[in-house]
Amino acid sequence: MPENGTSIGEETRLFEIVFPTNTNNNHMLFGGYALQLMDRLAFIVSSRYTRKNMLTVATEKVEFLNPVAEGELIELVAKIARVGRTSVTVDIDMFSEHLMTGDRKRCTTAQFVMVAVGDDGKPTAVPQPS
Ligand SMILES: CC(C)(COP(=O)(O)OP(=O)(O)OC[C@H]1O[C@@H](n2cnc3c(N)ncnc32)[C@H](O)[C@@H]1OP(=O)(O)O)[C@@H](O)C(=O)NCCC(=O)NCCS
Repeated sequence: MPENGTSIGEETRLFEIVFPTNTNNNHMLFGGYALQLMDRLAFIVSSRYTRKNMLTVATEKVEFLNPVAEGELIELVAKIARVGRTSVTVDIDMFSEHLMTGDRKRCTTAQFVMVAVGDDGKPTAVPQPS
C-alpha cells in the first residue's frame, strides 16, 4: 500500500462548517447535504484504498441521531469496515461541535458500499487486506 493511501483500520476525517445554504427551514443541517458529504468521504477513502474507479452501489443503516445547528462544525470520521471481492464498505460517523463551547455530539451514522469498476463499467477485483 502506498504511504499516501488509506489503510485498513485507519480513520479519515473531513471537516465542514454548516452555512445557511445547507440548512432546512428550521436552520438545522439539511439531511441530504449530510449524505452528500458522507458519500464524498466514502468515495475518497475507498479510492485511496483501491486506486480504482469507485461507484456508490448502496447505503445502509443511515441514522440521523441528533440535529446540527447552523454555524456548528461537523466532523466526519470514516473507516473501512469490510473489503469484499469487488466492493469496499466504509463506516462513517458524523459529529457536530459547537465552536464556542466545544460541545460535541454524534449526529449521523451510515455505511456506504462502494464498488470498483473497470473501463467497461463492470465490477473489478479490489486489493485484499494482507
Ligand atoms: C456498481 C455496479 C457496476 C455494480 O454492478 P452489479 O452488476 O450490481 O455488480 P455485482 O452484482 O457483481 O456486485 C458487485 C459488488 O457490489 C455488491 N453489491 C451490489 N449491490 C449491492 C447492494 N444493494 N448492497 C450491498 N452490496 C451490493 C456485491 O455484493 C458485490 O460485492 P463483492 O464483489 O465485494 O462481493 C452497478 O450496479 C452500477 O453501475 N450502479 C450504479 C452506480 C452509480 O451510478 N452510483 C452513483 C450513485 S448516483
